[in-house]
Amino acid sequence: MTVNGRLRKVVLEPRVTLLDTLRERLGLTGTKKGCDRGECGACTVLVDGERVKSCLTLAVMRPGAEITTVEGLARGEELHPVQEAFIRNDAFQCGACTPGQIMSAVACINEGHAGSEAEIREWMSGNLCRCAAYQNIVAAVADAAKEVRR
Ligand code: FES
Ligand code: FES
Repeated sequence: MTVNGRLRKVVLEPRVTLLDTLRERLGLTGTKKGCDRGECGACTVLVDGERVKSCLTLAVMRPGAEITTVEGLARGEELHPVQEAFIRNDAFQCGACTPGQIMSAVACINEGHAGSEAEIREWMSGNLCRCAAYQNIVAAVADAAKEVRR
């Protein structure tokens, strides 16, 4: 698989999830393990540009896929517009959910689902935040959507 633009070869048992592959085998711990059963969205990554919950995806299901994790968003020192918007809008508290929120937000904007506050809430609803920073997360996604469209 290609992870953040780099070809990575891993030999895995078929039962290993994409989440564990990224965190335990490739050392990419930016992607978080919250519930490990598809409920929280903390493990969201992009697979071929689409968001997936990596705890529900077996790595062997996506051979040759292009994977992007939160570590792959910045260009050197330059943060992705969504990352900047999260900082600008104070959109995280503990930050456990933040990598997943950011990855989901990138896809949400790319999908054209960030047209209104209600739409953002609906299309980000698979990502839970135990600190309830939702107000600021919605503001950050709306803010980033303006930047990305510019
Ligand atoms: S860790 Fe995957 S959805 Fe919670
Ligand atoms: S910032 Fe704490 S879980 Fe979202």
